[in-house]
Amino acid sequence: METYLRLGVNIDHVATIRNARGGDHPDPVRAAKMAEQAGADGITAHLREDRRHISDADIERLIADINVPLNLEIAATDEMLAIALRHKPHAACIVPEKREEQTTEGGLDVVGGANHLRRYVDKLANEGIRVSLFIEPDKAQLDAAARLGAPVVELHVGAYCDARQVTRSRELARIESAVLHAHDLGLECHAGHGLTYDTVGPVAAMPLIAELNIGHFLIGEAIFTGLESAIMRMRSAMDKARAKKSA
Ligand code: PXP
Repeated sequence: METYLRLGVNIDHVATIRNARGGDHPDPVRAAKMAEQAGADGITAHLREDRRHISDADIERLIADINVPLNLEIAATDEMLAIALRHKPHAACIVPEKREEQTTEGGLDVVGGANHLRRYVDKLANEGIRVSLFIEPDKAQLDAAARLGAPVVELHVGAYCDARQVTRSRELARIESAVLHAHDLGLECHAGHGLTYDTVGPVAAMPLIAELNIGHFLIGEAIFTGLESAIMRMRSAMDKARAKKSA
């Protein structure tokens, strides 16, 4: 089964730069609109407990101003659940969150945390929000996600992106078998974390992946080539990898 590969652009780090000075510039909502113009199929934003990048006001403005679906990344806490239920984004991706981490390190433990997570998945889904769980490419985590009734999983591909050449192919094989297993379980499969022009091809080529969420690299590249150009180049790398695979 061949699916269109959506690109979700994560605009968190536009807010990181803004917050370094505490003012309004650069505006992540302006970046989201530009991403939309450049061909992003969706916008992703992570409202963290410590509000280190995206703010509550950003979420309100994103909901009001963008025309593509918003994927709101949240931790499984009552505060974040209330915010998601108030704004009703198109999708909510539940991610693990530790205050001291630099970025989302690893996936959710759905196996060990199923009892805690169930209420969040159910409440979000009951409001028509498409729930995804951000997990490692691991069979047991996928089985647990399916048991919880989440329709979508996003595979954390950071280990593949960070790996050196030898381990990279092993990490890629892990992702490939997780994607197939997700498909067998009837889960829609997304992937993200750490993707760059150099690493996106083999992941984009997997025909059962429906969406990639990419942020940090694109915002970094925007410094050198502009945001629209960085997004268009990423889109084109994704399309080329898919076309090669299905040729
Ligand atoms: N997907 C999820 C669930 C994430 O938590 C992140 C990082 O916030 C990303 C995708 C994007 O990762 P990156 O910024 O490394 O492209």
